[in-house]
Amino acid sequence: MASTVIKGGTVVTADLTYEADVKVEGGRIVEIGKGLSGDKVLDATGCYVMPGGIDPHVHLEMPFMGTYSADDFESGTRAGLAGGTTMVVDFCLPSPGQSLLDALSMWHNKTSRATADYSFHMAITWWGEQVFNDMETVVRQKGINSFKHFMAYKGALMVDDDEMFSSFQRCAELGALAMVHAENGDVVAQMQAKLLAEGNTGPEAHAYSRPAEVEGEAANRAIMIADMAGVPLYIVHLSCEQGHEAVRRARAKGMRVYGEPLIQHLTLDEAEYAHPDWDHAARRVMSPPFRNKQHQDSLWAGLSSGSLQVVATDHCAFTTAQKRTGYGDFTKIPNGTGGLEDRMPMLWTHGVATGRLTMNEFVAVTSTNIAKILNIYPKKGAILVGADADIVVWDPNREKTISAASQQSSIDYNVFEGQHVKGLPRFTLTRGHVAIEESKVSTREGHGAFVARPPVTAVNKALSTWKELVAPRKVERSGIPVTGV
Ligand code: URP
Ligand code: ZN
Ligand code: ZN
Ligand code: ZN
Repeated sequence: MASTVIKGGTVVTADLTYEADVKVEGGRIVEIGKGLSGDKVLDATGCYVMPGGIDPHVHLEMPFMGTYSADDFESGTRAGLAGGTTMVVDFCLPSPGQSLLDALSMWHNKTSRATADYSFHMAITWWGEQVFNDMETVVRQKGINSFKHFMAYKGALMVDDDEMFSSFQRCAELGALAMVHAENGDVVAQMQAKLLAEGNTGPEAHAYSRPAEVEGEAANRAIMIADMAGVPLYIVHLSCEQGHEAVRRARAKGMRVYGEPLIQHLTLDEAEYAHPDWDHAARRVMSPPFRNKQHQDSLWAGLSSGSLQVVATDHCAFTTAQKRTGYGDFTKIPNGTGGLEDRMPMLWTHGVATGRLTMNEFVAVTSTNIAKILNIYPKKGAILVGADADIVVWDPNREKTISAASQQSSIDYNVFEGQHVKGLPRFTLTRGHVAIEESKVSTREGHGAFVARPPVTAVNKALSTWKELVAPRKVERSGIPVTGV
């Protein structure tokens, strides 16, 4: 079997920084040390050798708002690799009444051209006995240990509190992670109707219809319900101080709650929606919307202090033509933005180069933390012997200006257009295959494989032990109470 040695670099993991060569064979890391040799050498002089990024929140070829997101598993994973991301986690979305297993087959059918590894979260979009039963199969036989609940998108993906509580309890029983899109969908629907009735039809009204309170309320509600169900909770695309405050409070109380800001919310703000060009503003319509600088500061502080653990993209790219279906009615603009190729360079530039994050924290929030939360560590998220050789050789001095003209994503614009980034992959390896060498792309269609994720993390065990200890217990009493005394 041919081996590859990454030579002369500095290994940077979530907890260590040291000089070593890394040898890869058969898709895995087989040796780490000084003076290694192999059949092929990759020169990592001046570079950091880090675990490849994991983006736990993408929507590739997603059926949504009457259309499909434009990047599929080929272009999406290629975009990821170009930016140092070697694994993505997509969301399987059953239609109302559809079995989870049927939906899962449909999602697996989309992945044959994936160029990097992937996994799925399962969404709970309706509730019934079949869903309850399917959840067990999904966890025990299908390698999925996380269930997403949309608290928004009323009339489409949204679930209500009794559905959410039922599902959270089932997650707890099965040793799975509960996830939420935290926005109060009832309030959003009313605000949308009012804005439209008042003639506010443009993309800026999208932001007005989803203020931070809408997110803070839903985050709080989900946290309380998760506490009662005894399940760990992961809040996707957490965008504001109100949501972050709820997470901080829960964690201070000892709860296992995780928050995932997106690179878009960290670096782009609400001024984008005031742009005079309709296309510019509509291309940035996503939920939750971009916020102001105070919210951004809160998210950065959360990453530095550890109250927020993961940076994702929610990559859900729509072309300008798709966005234009919402001209005259902002509620019809497909919600979503891209970012897969730009997450790591943007986070390095705005996080590490500014001193907000250490290099080790960068690795933690782009890869290792989510690998642990999703129970795939150290197969993923690690530079260790035996781990998958999903590696990015990061050159802190390579730079570029982000432009749609040179991106891998199939859409016709980039929300980060014109941003200058310093810190880019020199090489990206997916299970040992060198898919990216500076700007040369050598991805292999079909190379990407499904990553099964076993249930019952240490956190699930601790929570179920605790719930058992404090479970209601009947008080046995003898005799009949005497009345009238
Ligand atoms: O606007 C967004 N975020 N689109 C993707 C679907 C979702 O809510 O995650
Ligand atoms: Zn109900
Ligand atoms: Zn969402
Ligand atoms: Zn999403």
